[in-house]
Amino acid sequence: MTQIGKAISRLEGWQKVTGSAKYAGDYNVPDLLYGYVVNSTITKGHIISIDTSDALALPGVIKVFTHQNRPGLAWFDIMYTDMDAPPGTVFKPLHDNEIKYNGQPVALIVAERFEIAREASALIKIKYEEMHFETRLDRNIEKGRNAKKGLATALKPPPPKPKGDFSLAYDESPFKVATEYRHSTEHHNPMELFATTTVYEGDGKLTIYDKTQGTINSQIYVANIFGLHFKDVRVLAPFVGGGFGSGLRPQYQLFFSVMAALELKRNVRVTLDRKQMYSFGHRPQVIQKLRFAAETNGKLTALSHLALSETSQFEDYAELVAEWSHKLYPANNTLFSYKLVPLDLYTPIDMRAPGGSTALHAIECTMDELAYQLKMDPLELRLKNYAEIDPSTDKPFTSKALKDCYLKAAEKFGWNERNPEPGSMTHGNKLIGYGMATGIWDAYQFPARVEIGVNAEGKLLVNNATTDIGTGTLTVMTQIAADQFGLSLDEVTFGYGDSKKPFSMFQGGSAMTASTGSAIVIAANVLKKKLLDKAKEITNSPLKDAELKDVMFTHGRMYLKNQVEVYVMLTDIVQANKGKTIKTTNLGAPHMFDLRKYSKMTHSAAFVEVEIDKDLKTITVTRAVTAVAAGKIINPKTATSQITGSMVWGISKALYEETILDENLGKYMNMNLGEYHIPVHADIKQLEVIFVEEKDELINELGVKGVGEIGLVAIPAAIANAIFHATGKRINNLPIHFDELL
Ligand code: MOS
Repeated sequence: MTQIGKAISRLEGWQKVTGSAKYAGDYNVPDLLYGYVVNSTITKGHIISIDTSDALALPGVIKVFTHQNRPGLAWFDIMYTDMDAPPGTVFKPLHDNEIKYNGQPVALIVAERFEIAREASALIKIKYEEMHFETRLDRNIEKGRNAKKGLATALKPPPPKPKGDFSLAYDESPFKVATEYRHSTEHHNPMELFATTTVYEGDGKLTIYDKTQGTINSQIYVANIFGLHFKDVRVLAPFVGGGFGSGLRPQYQLFFSVMAALELKRNVRVTLDRKQMYSFGHRPQVIQKLRFAAETNGKLTALSHLALSETSQFEDYAELVAEWSHKLYPANNTLFSYKLVPLDLYTPIDMRAPGGSTALHAIECTMDELAYQLKMDPLELRLKNYAEIDPSTDKPFTSKALKDCYLKAAEKFGWNERNPEPGSMTHGNKLIGYGMATGIWDAYQFPARVEIGVNAEGKLLVNNATTDIGTGTLTVMTQIAADQFGLSLDEVTFGYGDSKKPFSMFQGGSAMTASTGSAIVIAANVLKKKLLDKAKEITNSPLKDAELKDVMFTHGRMYLKNQVEVYVMLTDIVQANKGKTIKTTNLGAPHMFDLRKYSKMTHSAAFVEVEIDKDLKTITVTRAVTAVAAGKIINPKTATSQITGSMVWGISKALYEETILDENLGKYMNMNLGEYHIPVHADIKQLEVIFVEEKDELINELGVKGVGEIGLVAIPAAIANAIFHATGKRINNLPIHFDELL
């Protein structure tokens, strides 16, 4: 009876589809007050005055908080940031009268009803003094500078140092391509809006339902900035309606909800609307310049990737952009750089394969151009430059089955039917294009603590503070835990989404299965030892001389290997423990020191077919196949969902999503789902996912690398390459608009 590897449907699926799942804004606690936030309409400057009298006169309005009457908090004088904060000074709502970006929250109205609070927001009169601002990356290129270093940069180091002599090698190589790629801003737009319901329990105690990707991150934030004891702050997020990175940092609705609850000693909910979701973090604008050179046989000789990205004036948000080509391809001469330009916008925040998806688009399109120049098949060029060890660090991979990804996906797709000549393949009045690209993503693993125990009914109780942002975490963790003791899924309860449970980092980076999953295995092994010790104490115990390595667990029994008749029931062991749950709490730390000698990566290969109307140039992605190498797949069903969803993001990034900035106003203009385009069902055709076998005995206890973002990274380039194949046109910005093909 093994649960790992089974295609199991989400255990909480019925709660989601029947509407019984409660999200942060759904907790209708008694005597609830509602907050509505007012946002700045200018981009940079100062508030001269705020007149709240009309708003306060509206029946049902309880209070209006502004920078003039907000409570004094230690936070406003100390340097406190959240777990995912980049180096710099975190933005503090209502700190003073300074406006740092358009949409900055400047007031909170608290009323008896949400509608009253929103109505009152229109009655607040604010006078501003406006100052000159800069919001365009391409107009401020000369301001590019290195990113500051800080705690959060541990996961985002600067790009590798140069090798050899790039300029010389590039000049002397017979084949070379120089490209420039531009990406505009994107916003996460999870379905669930940002909301926090704070229950004021008295005695400085709070129970907080927050829309977050990290319950403990929100707990630490609240405790620190409001000067509360950690144990008095409980943050719950049992259901999260998508995050995509937007919930990695505590957002301002949390601050406002808690501030109002503490000040008014009442229960307070603050919900942000769709437009307000555009005021606290985005995928940054990026400009990339690449130069790749090769020998006549296609072997790369020189790689250069220079990236310029935006950040805010107060924090240095960095992502990994410039290094990915050299994690995929060897070359003796390299030159990489990553620079930031501070602009008068809010700090960017990780969004769906941050950095990697932007970088891989540029890299894999540049490789495609090189393949055309060499008159070589794009897949053959990748295979010719296949790296058996990580060229950027000279470290071996813990495992790498990328070659299988290429070959299996190519076969499934029918890549060998491709005529390489651009515009040569047609179907009626449609141009057909085939494109391919490579994907790579870090196999992250974070420290996690897991509590695991057996209760009097013989049920396994497992606890960790992680959220499940829609990825299938509950199901996957239940499967992993069940297998440790040979139990069925209904004999296991996985408790999560609660800051009171043992430590978890925020849920991001496709790291949770490796992090909490491995911690479950480690904790289970400790519990087994504890159970055996207790089993030995039972009178006439049949296991009194047994060693742990000879003991098996299944169906609620522990027994001697090869002697199923020699067993002790787990319920009897708990009985002997006076019926009290036998449990243990252990840290599953990534064995960072052992793994320092290795490169830990997931890989993918994507093959895409586009159909382009010959006259109208409308683009449809008709087929896409992605093969993924990500170690062991715990649940093929939820993993396939992860990759399929990621492929949809890839289509979205390539053809639909962009936040449009009005440079005269310094303001985003399409802050709604009507004008911020994402694909609808009719835009999504045939998507296929293949998981190639990849046995990884080094990476962690489970051999898992995690899936999610790896499904996205290759898709935009594969689509752009397919569009080139169909039309002969290279469009070097995303999203690609069909009118650019006219
Ligand atoms: Mo993410 S951008 O891994 O939440």
